[in-house]
Amino acid sequence: MGVCELFWAGITIVLLLLIPKTLGWDVEGHYATCKIAEEFLSKDATAAMKQLLPESAKGELAAVCSWPDDIRRELPWSRELHFADTPDFMCNYEYCRDCHDSAGDKDRCVTGAIYNYTMQLDAAYNQDNKVVTKYNLTEALMFLAHFLGDVHQPLHMGFLGDLGGNRITVQWYDTNANLHKVWDRSIIRSAMETFYASDLAAMIESIKRNITLYIIYLPRFTHWLQSDDRLFWEHCPNNSIACPNPYASESISLACKYAYPNATQGSNLRDDYFFSRLPIVEKRLAQGGVRLAAILNRIFAPQTKVAQA
Ligand SMILES: *[C@@H]1O[C@H](CO)[C@@H](O)[C@H](O)[C@H]1NC(C)=O
Ligand SMILES: *[C@@H]1O[C@H](CO)[C@@H](O)[C@H](O)[C@H]1NC(C)=O
Ligand SMILES: *[C@@H]1O[C@H](CO)[C@@H](O)[C@H](O)[C@H]1NC(C)=O
Ligand SMILES: *[C@@H]1O[C@H](CO)[C@@H](O)[C@H](O)[C@H]1NC(C)=O
Ligand SMILES: *[C@@H]1O[C@H](CO)[C@@H](O)[C@H](O)[C@H]1NC(C)=O
Ligand SMILES: [Zn+2]
Repeated sequence: MGVCELFWAGITIVLLLLIPKTLGWDVEGHYATCKIAEEFLSKDATAAMKQLLPESAKGELAAVCSWPDDIRRELPWSRELHFADTPDFMCNYEYCRDCHDSAGDKDRCVTGAIYNYTMQLDAAYNQDNKVVTKYNLTEALMFLAHFLGDVHQPLHMGFLGDLGGNRITVQWYDTNANLHKVWDRSIIRSAMETFYASDLAAMIESIKRNITLYIIYLPRFTHWLQSDDRLFWEHCPNNSIACPNPYASESISLACKYAYPNATQGSNLRDDYFFSRLPIVEKRLAQGGVRLAAILNRIFAPQTKVAQA
């Protein structure tokens, strides 16, 4: 290779490194969401889920929840299904306005994808005239589980102008990062290091304990915390199986309230930002897990219809 080729190879590598990643929670966040979901799956859903999982998962949903990130190069059409940014400084989410890809094609965003893969699984498991589905249901399950995580990452509903925080370069303690990455991974990794001796399983256990205490037991005995009990988290209006739009609304509203403030271009984010934002991240992982389980429990519920005599 001549000097010139070397130079261009170098430039290419640098450019590849600079390509913004809008991929959602990093491996840890997706693993946590799915591990939490596994805890709340019904027996029927667990059985159906295990049947669909690829062998490599060894029966563990969490093992394949980052699969859509791993294959984004092979399946370029899936790239824009991980997020749904809003016009700059708009702190609400509107499906019609916001759910499209960069070419403007409707439904091609994270909430559109959640409807899509829910519909594929529902059609295969619950429709009357079961036809052999043309969809790969293993992939549908892995996409659905992944996108339920992504829709809960506040900056997956960030602003279009800064690519959900990807263009806002910041320092996370003493390392360079961008705001999107801080929410995808840095907060989670710093929490693991600071509080859990870098043990993700311990962090997940602690989030699960919180769900059991604050989201399941306390609301049962008290009547406060209405918006923070499990039934409220799981509820979808009109008996629909999945309702991702409210989750996207919550995300953009959290992005406006917690992700963007005090994190401008060049900010150095340290303890103040970390300690005040960590509870938001933990709650979003919890909600993603509980809601993913609720959706799968609805999809895989045994048919209640009695055969007509
Ligand atoms: C729906 O799923 C199919 C199969 O994976 C895919 O080809 C299509 O692009 C998806 N559309 C959306 C909006 O998710
Ligand atoms: C379904 O998708 C999985 C994961 O991509 C793949 O391993 C499997 O071969 C596919 N099944 C069919 C029948 O195409
Ligand atoms: C548990 O819940 C408390 C109270 O809401 C919160 O402050 C804390 O950050 C949560 N911890 C985890 C690990 O979710
Ligand atoms: C629920 O159904 C009613 C009546 O069909 C409809 O007006 C309403 O928009 C639906 N709500 C949602 C959130 O889809
Ligand atoms: C932003 O920083 C200021 C000054 O340190 C602080 O008073 C304020 O509470 C911070 N706002 C948020 C949302 O963190
Ligand atoms: Zn993603």
